[in-house]
Amino acid sequence: MSASLANPTLAAPTLAEGMAEIRATGTLTGLPRDHFIAGRWTPPASGARMDSADPGRGAPFAAFANGDAEDVDRAVTAARAAFTGAWGDASPAERGRVLQRMASLLRAEADRFALVECLDSGKRLSEAQGDVRGVIRAFEYYAGAADKLEGASLPLGRNYLGFTLDEPVGVCAQVIPWNYPLSTAARGIAPALAAGCAIVAKPAEQTPFTALMLAELATRAGLPDGALNVVTGTGARAGAPLVAHPGIHHITFTGSVPTGIRVMQAAAENVTRLVLELGGKSPLVVLADADLDIALEGVLEAIYENAGQICSAGSRLVLERPIADEFLARLVARVEKLRLGHGLDAVDVGPVNSALQLERIDAHVRRAEAAGNGILAGGGIVHPAGAEGGWFFAPTIVLARGLDDPIVTEEIFGPVLAVQIVGDLDEAIHVANATEFALVAGIYTASFDKAQRFARRVDAGQVYINEYFAGGIEVPFGGNRKSGFGREKGMEGLRSYCRTKSIVARLR
Ligand code: NAI
Ligand code: MG
Repeated sequence: MSASLANPTLAAPTLAEGMAEIRATGTLTGLPRDHFIAGRWTPPASGARMDSADPGRGAPFAAFANGDAEDVDRAVTAARAAFTGAWGDASPAERGRVLQRMASLLRAEADRFALVECLDSGKRLSEAQGDVRGVIRAFEYYAGAADKLEGASLPLGRNYLGFTLDEPVGVCAQVIPWNYPLSTAARGIAPALAAGCAIVAKPAEQTPFTALMLAELATRAGLPDGALNVVTGTGARAGAPLVAHPGIHHITFTGSVPTGIRVMQAAAENVTRLVLELGGKSPLVVLADADLDIALEGVLEAIYENAGQICSAGSRLVLERPIADEFLARLVARVEKLRLGHGLDAVDVGPVNSALQLERIDAHVRRAEAAGNGILAGGGIVHPAGAEGGWFFAPTIVLARGLDDPIVTEEIFGPVLAVQIVGDLDEAIHVANATEFALVAGIYTASFDKAQRFARRVDAGQVYINEYFAGGIEVPFGGNRKSGFGREKGMEGLRSYCRTKSIVARLR
């Protein structure tokens, strides 16, 4: 454990106390202000700070370090020292124990993490609480896996002994987006630590706090100094030098396609391996034989959870014609009743994460409107009572005009559902595969055969049958084509942080 943690005392208020404090002051005391490097709160070398906003109020609530290449370099040096030192020496069982203690501490401090995540990202408190539960599961899962990475024995005959080792890949960069700040951080950090890697994480500049809190918690759980460092700041000032750093052996990047391409180019210069988790435009198919009540709930969650800011959102609803009118009428009725507001209030849909994201979403819908798309629900920026300053977009349903309509080809990353109507399953498969993305696909049907035919023929990293977002940390996750490559979660996620070494001995 680190001897002194100079910065804030991360008090763990009860949920009620924390909510009362946010309502009274607009913020929470004890939020981190500095980077977390080598087990210490470390002020930015340049002294620069920037603000993070509460999207529900559209106002800043706390400042954090606006890091640059010098901070990144310090963090990479600290990670390197941990990897070649104390963390590299820890046995797999000891690594598992540290992760298990992180899970326990997170369970004890879950309310505080959820409150900060709600405030910083805008997501509803109940969603943030669900995210924290998922993060605890991720640490439990990889705690159990740390000492179960078994290699292979190689069949070379009696005169040779051949086997493989899964070695940790080294120092890993984690570049994290703002839509699931803690979850995305954890799904990279937990397996990387389980594998024995050291980490430099760079959270999004819109949502820096929970990754910092996680790193501080890891130190209290007994993680050696430097094994997990967090440098905050913008993509240009802190992200770019991190992914271009020659001391980085692996990059996990989650974010947009254009930034992912830049990260891949930077990685190429050092031949750094990487996992890219980019966007999606995932189809959710409802066939005429489906249980429409269940499908309706599935569609609502698939596109309006987290205000649609989910890489794997079901953002294209593909309806079989015989049920299309009835299903849409029921969907519109439900959507019109969704309550919007601050994530701390009892609402159905929270704000989007930033003023910029709100503008982007609005531009997509304005363009569709100008092109003559039918808008069945929502369609614009709104100012809900009690949260007038926040960044809200009305839950929206837009009819697509064809396969090359931008409303179906472009990721919007907001609460905007595009509707495509098809004649049968084969047309649904064709429509599902007709974008550059291939992250997730969902289908609701009573037919096992149809579900399996869809699952085999759709291009996607994961297929959900009769429950969108089914599964958890056990299920490998990642995309094909422009949605990226490599897998996180599950045992495959652990192997993403390993490199295979083959060892062969000639016996005499
Ligand atoms: P972005 O891809 O630019 O940002 C994601 C992360 O990358 C942030 O931590 C950012 O600071 C960092 N970053 C930015 N430029 C970098 C660089 N040159 N080198 C290294 N790191 C860099 O995404 P942005 O601008 O926040 O959102 C734009 C769009 O991206 C959204 O509208 C959405 O469509 C998509 N997106 C997809 C996500 C997903 O889960 N796949 C998550 C966030 C955004
Ligand atoms: Mg924020």
